Amino acid sequence: LVKGNQLYEGKAKKVYATSNPELLIVDYKDDATAFNGEKKGTIHNKGIINNLVTNHMMQLLEKEGVPTHFVEEISERETIVKNVTIIPLEVIVRNIIAGSLSKRVGKPEGTKMNKTVLEFCYKDDELGDPMVNEYHITAMGWATKEEVDTLAEYSFMVNKFMTNYLKDLNIELIDFKLEFGKTSDGIIVLADEISPDTCRFWDSVTGEKLDKDRFRRNMGGEEDAYNEILKRLMGKTI
Ligand code: C5P
Repeated sequence: LVKGNQLYEGKAKKVYATSNPELLIVDYKDDATAFNGEKKGTIHNKGIINNLVTNHMMQLLEKEGVPTHFVEEISERETIVKNVTIIPLEVIVRNIIAGSLSKRVGKPEGTKMNKTVLEFCYKDDELGDPMVNEYHITAMGWATKEEVDTLAEYSFMVNKFMTNYLKDLNIELIDFKLEFGKTSDGIIVLADEISPDTCRFWDSVTGEKLDKDRFRRNMGGEEDAYNEILKRLMGKTI
């Protein structure tokens, strides 16, 4: 497989074409942004850690029956993935109140809820990724009702597996964001990443934040936090 032209540069990743039109190469950067690009910085080795952590999780999720775009890790920052059309939605799964939900409902972070909450946001930087519901999604043609049901089903499967898996590593899965894509034959697969950039991970003993909130909130220690996640998941640090 030959790496081709850069197709896209996002906030945290670059995407390249390859000699196979069905496949792409994702290249993870150390650049960090928050508040829709308003705050910019870098987290040393974040790209390496997010590549490793994402691929680790996606391979475990495939075994659990969640199809993903993962194909093959080819370097510490690069992975071959399926060329999918991204569904323009962010699916957010929330187990514990934090972040924007804490503000929206006026309850402190860490507050428990009676059940898991699923949210959809329309992926549009200019609009600031507004929250939308199933009516908006089907009315705008972003996905069909059946596809929304599939996104929800897969998101709950991811949540169930990750929550249990992380519990044994003394990590509490507070909330996370998923993105999905469609392959050329119309199959929905989990895409993008699953990393400390896209999940809230709290140490279940100390309550310490082990995710991008350290960067968003200028807490410091983000490199150590990302490395701690790598260590607990894969038994190594970089
Ligand atoms: O900011 P908020 O509380 O809505 O974020 C919920 C979860 O979704 C957090 O884990 C956050 O890291 C993730 N998220 C993301 N990308 C976004 C918005 C939220 O990864 N654009």
